Amino acid sequence: MEVNIETLIDQETLENRIREMAEELDRIYEGKELRVIGILKGSVYFLCELTKRMKIPVTLDFISVSSYGNGLASTGAIHFNKDLDDPIEGQEVIVAEDIMDTGRTLSYLVEVLKARNPASLRVITLLDKPSRRVTKIDPWMSGFTIPDRFVVGYGLDYAQQYRNLPYIGVIE
Ligand code: IMP
Ligand code: MG
Repeated sequence: MEVNIETLIDQETLENRIREMAEELDRIYEGKELRVIGILKGSVYFLCELTKRMKIPVTLDFISVSSYGNGLASTGAIHFNKDLDDPIEGQEVIVAEDIMDTGRTLSYLVEVLKARNPASLRVITLLDKPSRRVTKIDPWMSGFTIPDRFVVGYGLDYAQQYRNLPYIGVIE
């Protein structure tokens, strides 16, 4: 398939903002240890860039939930592929996501994780598409608010392709 990808957020802009987010997390969680949970696979580029710039002690874990289908819009049905390796009871926890769109994935996940009694649980996302939200959830911290366009790169895919683009692009 022939696709045209137009840059929406370039690499330097992404990395500058992620550095700011890391510094803010260092300030907010000073004196604490943070468990950062990445949602596979989309969050991994963001999570690496973020956590390698943080100075407080960080531990990582990963979870995988997917909405059915590989197309441009998520259907709302959610499938649990991989659970966390470790309990989060009593931990300061941050869930890192690539993009919050309808919010269905994260509202589901937050409910599941809250039932495990973390000391705190907050959601951060690299990108936020608030115009598409169908649930009450909002990210506690987000990198960029973007318009209602389908984006790829920096972890985000279209049918598993383009995750490794070093920038955020829009599929035409
Ligand atoms: P939500 O449950 O609708 O908030 O969808 C979240 C998930 O849908 C994200 O983690 C992405 O995997 C996927 N998604 C939503 N919007 C986009 C997009 O513009 N590009 C790529 N994936 C997207
Ligand atoms: Mg995805």
